[in-house]
Amino acid sequence: MSEDSWQISRVTRSKGEAKASYDRLSRWYDLLSDRSERNHREAGLEKLAAKKGETIVEIGFGTGHALLALAQAVGEAGKVYGIDISQGMYNVSRARLEKAGVMARVELTCGDAAQLPYRDGSCDAVFMSFTLELFDTPEIPAVLGECHRVLRSGGRLGVVAMSKSEHPGLMERLYEWAHQRWPRYADCRPIYVRRVCEDAGFNLRDVTGFTMWGLTGEVVLVEKG
Ligand SMILES: C[S@@+](CC[C@H](N)C(=O)[O-])C[C@H]1O[C@@H](n2cnc3c(N)ncnc32)[C@H](O)[C@@H]1O
Repeated sequence: MSEDSWQISRVTRSKGEAKASYDRLSRWYDLLSDRSERNHREAGLEKLAAKKGETIVEIGFGTGHALLALAQAVGEAGKVYGIDISQGMYNVSRARLEKAGVMARVELTCGDAAQLPYRDGSCDAVFMSFTLELFDTPEIPAVLGECHRVLRSGGRLGVVAMSKSEHPGLMERLYEWAHQRWPRYADCRPIYVRRVCEDAGFNLRDVTGFTMWGLTGEVVLVEKG
């Protein structure tokens, strides 16, 4: 493919708009999205294969389902850090983790993941599901650069995201149109998941495709060399 054909749409809504819309959505998010997204998120977690005692970061944790699974997987000797821009999502996740009794091994931050508040080389793995495609085009390499920075050598990055097809079908074209027309509501868009991870310096370990409402997605596992 030529360089031009790797183009992806820009995200034109502001971070303030993203925060406000996920704050509003937080109490309804599971009702609206969990049924369609859960299996793919779980496939990503399975590939990430968190182990007892590991330190793991989740970016854009939403309502906290993956945070809980990760906290259970790393056990009492491990640590899970989460960062999300929405205070509403933070509140829903915190309530879920407290109810499950795992809050002692979790630390949550409400903030923009364009800069991660974690030390260089301090994590075994980073996880992101349906979040990387919400960052504007120039920010994607910056966010992945931050993932690379906080991971130790050999650390894993698991990404579940909507992916752009070489020959987009009707649903993908409709979705892209909606994203251009209503950028505050259809704020994510398909991206070249595997390619952006490899461009950020990660080594590919595994990639699996999926479909959701006629759109395509990828579960990608990469490693810091
Ligand atoms: C589509 S939801 C996915 C939630 C969750 N990962 C899941 O799979 O259910 C995207 C999440 O990313 C968060 N988010 C959006 N922009 C962000 C940013 N710049 N920094 C951190 N979190 C962000 C939103 O608040 C929201 O919780």
